[in-house]
Amino acid sequence: MKRVSRKRLLSGMQPTQGKLHLGNLEGALRNWVNLQEEYDLFCCVVDWHALTTMIDHSGEIYENSIGVATDYLAAGIDPDRSAIFLQSQVKEHAELYLLFSMCTPLGWLERVPTYKEKRELLTGYADASHGLLGYPVLQAADILLYKPYGVPVGKDQVPHLELTREIGRRFNYLFGNVFPEIQNVLSETPSMMGMDGRKMSKSYDNAIYIADTPDETAMKIMKAFTDPLKIRKDDPGHPEGCAVCDLHTVYNPNYVLALEECRQGLRGCVQNKRECIESVNEALAPIRARRRVLEQDRGHVVDILAAGAEKARAVASETMKEVRIAMGLP
Ligand code: TRP
Repeated sequence: MKRVSRKRLLSGMQPTQGKLHLGNLEGALRNWVNLQEEYDLFCCVVDWHALTTMIDHSGEIYENSIGVATDYLAAGIDPDRSAIFLQSQVKEHAELYLLFSMCTPLGWLERVPTYKEKRELLTGYADASHGLLGYPVLQAADILLYKPYGVPVGKDQVPHLELTREIGRRFNYLFGNVFPEIQNVLSETPSMMGMDGRKMSKSYDNAIYIADTPDETAMKIMKAFTDPLKIRKDDPGHPEGCAVCDLHTVYNPNYVLALEECRQGLRGCVQNKRECIESVNEALAPIRARRRVLEQDRGHVVDILAAGAEKARAVASETMKEVRIAMGLP
């Protein structure tokens, strides 16, 4: 049977930690796993991007990247169909970044909301570097190198994708039509709530990780923030805004009943937490089991990354040839 050529997608995550949390899993990874059925997926671990905030711990980034790749695989990204690779192992990302930086006006970058937010937070050697300002230019290179149909990401990335389109358009205007207009492929699941009721994020220390044990998961859920107005178990609860009810909606197939019982004061938070722990641990069991096997075989993950980089390079080097020709840089 002749294989029909499929549309391509490119996405990536930063290895600022060596493990991904349930927000990453439900907000992005699961979506990627499903998209593999229909698209050729390029899953990048954007390790150079991590340097924008980790310049003083650069030595941790490689191990973190292996951890992130391990989570990709455990979640079900299939290395036979999709390319899983490290950005730094495909040097074309750096070359296109440099060429794009020459056609990106400073004003475009200063407007990016994530730049403004991060600039406030960073101190010391990571303080507002040229690289931080250029972050979206590197991201545009990550994406356009593969001339993808689209990019599966969360809503928070929409401004970055808009900038990617603007950079692509300007390049095309200056040098001829090389890059496609990329689509946002937004994931259905909105962001998950962390155990303190804020958005789940590694920087808030409120996350449950794929790599957590069932006991660690249970402890985090037992301590989680719930409805402050529900003091006794027969008080009527308000599931919206409760971290435990939020987990129910994602992981408990019978969540409608659980939330209704909470609302009517028919169940207390302790019962709610116990059942939640069971649902979460059960749903994660197969992913965690695969992760444990992969952790025992780091060499296998390293090999998968090498093969993924080769697949990625095959596409990236073709794009770079076109780019150099278009610019008249032989
Ligand atoms: N900026 C993205 C994030 O913080 C990471 C990223 C870098 C990315 N390059 C990318 C995402 C290319 C999608 C495609 O999550």
